[in-house]
Amino acid sequence: MYGAGAMGALATRLMTEKDVEIVGAIARNPSKVGRDLGEFAEIGYIGVPIEADAEHVLATQRPDVVLHATQSFLPEIQEQLTLCVRHGANVVTISEESLYPWSSSPAIAAELDALAKQHGATITGSGHQDSFWLHQVSALLGTAHRIDSVYGKATWNADEYGAEIIQSKHVGETLEQFQESINSESRPPTFGGNLLAALAQATGLTPKEWKTEISPVVAEEDRHSNSIGTTFSKGTVIGYSDIDVMRTVEGPTFTFEMSGYIFGSGESDMNQWVIKGEPDLFLDNGVVPSYTTTCTQWVNRIPDVINAPAGFVTPDQLPPLRYRSMPMHSYVTPGILT
Ligand SMILES: NC(=O)c1ccc[n+]([C@@H]2O[C@H](COP(=O)([O-])OP(=O)(O)OC[C@H]3O[C@@H](n4cnc5c(N)ncnc54)[C@H](OP(=O)(O)O)[C@@H]3O)[C@@H](O)[C@H]2O)c1
Repeated sequence: MYGAGAMGALATRLMTEKDVEIVGAIARNPSKVGRDLGEFAEIGYIGVPIEADAEHVLATQRPDVVLHATQSFLPEIQEQLTLCVRHGANVVTISEESLYPWSSSPAIAAELDALAKQHGATITGSGHQDSFWLHQVSALLGTAHRIDSVYGKATWNADEYGAEIIQSKHVGETLEQFQESINSESRPPTFGGNLLAALAQATGLTPKEWKTEISPVVAEEDRHSNSIGTTFSKGTVIGYSDIDVMRTVEGPTFTFEMSGYIFGSGESDMNQWVIKGEPDLFLDNGVVPSYTTTCTQWVNRIPDVINAPAGFVTPDQLPPLRYRSMPMHSYVTPGILT
């Protein structure tokens, strides 16, 4: 487990309940290092200390697969992924950019792809997007005769996750600070941009034009974050919305509107899609438990990532997720692990 945060804690329980043998855990914060991962995850002692030295954990434990959840974007995690594959470990990360990094960070993705192939390892990005935004939507698109436009809208509560998301959603900034970060040349890609590129790949369409609009979500009254135990005063940025539009050479236009911010009472996560064409098609997942489904998808992908060919293999190249009723190792191709 690379990253002992909100997501790592839940995935630890899910893995132990599917007989995955956890052999190591990595984090940085001195308040976590030295603690037992099971105790950190509140499932009781499992005999896996959280350690700060990633190289040491990977070299001594030689994991078959690393579940990675530290930061969101490839430039931040390149070194961490490199370290994993150099030790021959497959990686399933929930870094959002890793869902489909080929248009946003092509050079880093290509470097990691080559390195993974050299070491016989696979890197895959999974998490909430895998089924809810990619595979469910591509399955629905597969029932159309003609597609004119695709419009998706998703919201999620940034307060259900850890400090990393709070920071990357610009929570706590003033409007001026937010505008400065958003206008900066180093602004990271939107999750929606990566998703639309993945959907284009999954449908065999060719992107020709992109547009992104980002706007802050501002607290209309004081808003408390349980995740970091802070109350943000009225007027403070509590997250943001982005709208990505992708036009394709073949005609269909894809739009995805995503809002991640600290919810007030009565708000819930949603995921809705409208496809115009022949026929018109709709997808509505009702109240979406994104916090849990991030980790269930991440863990259920373990055998697929071990079974996949070496390289940076994005989930559009993998089968749709499957329910795992049996111990996780029973889904691994016999003889694939040395
Ligand atoms: N794809 C999805 O569906 C999805 C959903 C939720 C979250 N995510 C992403 O997953 C990541 C983790 O989310 P979270 O809510 O679990 O965050 P979190 O609670 O803040 O935990 C992040 C963990 O990563 C560790 N970490 C961060 N940078 C590190 C580094 N350079 N080296 C070693 N360890 C490092 C942190 O260590 P310390 O605490 O010791 O500093 C912490 O243990 C975020 O990037 C988030 O955006 C993706």
